[in-house]
Amino acid sequence: SVFQDEHIASKKVARRIADIITSKQEKGENAVLGLATGATPVEVYYELARLHKEEGLSFKNVITFNLDEYYPMNPGAKQSYVRFMDEQLFNHIDIPRENIHIPDGTLKKEEIANYCLEYEKKITEVGGLDLQILGIGRTGHIGFNEPGSAPNSGTRLVTLDDLTRRDASRDFGGKENVPTKAITMGIGTIFKAKEIILMAWSKKKAPIIRKAVEGEISSNVPATFLQLSDNVEFILDEDAASEL
Ligand code: GLP
Repeated sequence: SVFQDEHIASKKVARRIADIITSKQEKGENAVLGLATGATPVEVYYELARLHKEEGLSFKNVITFNLDEYYPMNPGAKQSYVRFMDEQLFNHIDIPRENIHIPDGTLKKEEIANYCLEYEKKITEVGGLDLQILGIGRTGHIGFNEPGSAPNSGTRLVTLDDLTRRDASRDFGGKENVPTKAITMGIGTIFKAKEIILMAWSKKKAPIIRKAVEGEISSNVPATFLQLSDNVEFILDEDAASEL
């Protein structure tokens, strides 16, 4: 769906998330959400925090799994996704701390493979993701699944694309400071979600949205794999949709 602007679109996504949370609450069940970082979902999180504060939306039954984290990354660092999520969402809602999962950027190299398997297992154990929200990188990455990622890939350590590191350089004060690696849920992990929403705003994303939606399905543009799923919705503003 295409919306006039990102504000309207973000409210719509927040509303969908709130609906999932409340319908699960009515059944006495947990809502399991896959969350994303980057600039794109910021207003969704702002709106969720507002719904908590002003409309009493509770997150007590919510379990979250974030898509990715840079590696290595200290959770206290300014660029960490742990810090991002705290500042943008978790500090403003009543989610139990133990319900929050974000890939750990402080692991020793030899611990990563096992940790990633456990991450997958935890998602499965709580019943799988009810909803995964996604942004998209200019390389066509979802999470940090860069070109070359396999459609059945799981949570793992990956190498970041040069363009991704360039796009992140502002946050890190120079590309040379951007980590070369990240831990990310795989395409396969994302695909298992019962519902997927990919959001993109602005002209900057228009070329990659065109490729993702209309391009040939290929691991050269990992987001094209979403064409294979019936449970995906692209939520775009007019600028991001302008080349479709
Ligand atoms: C980041 C994140 C992705 C995100 C993408 C786009 O590197 N790992 O999950 O979707 O890049 O970022 P932005 O929303 O800031 O454009």
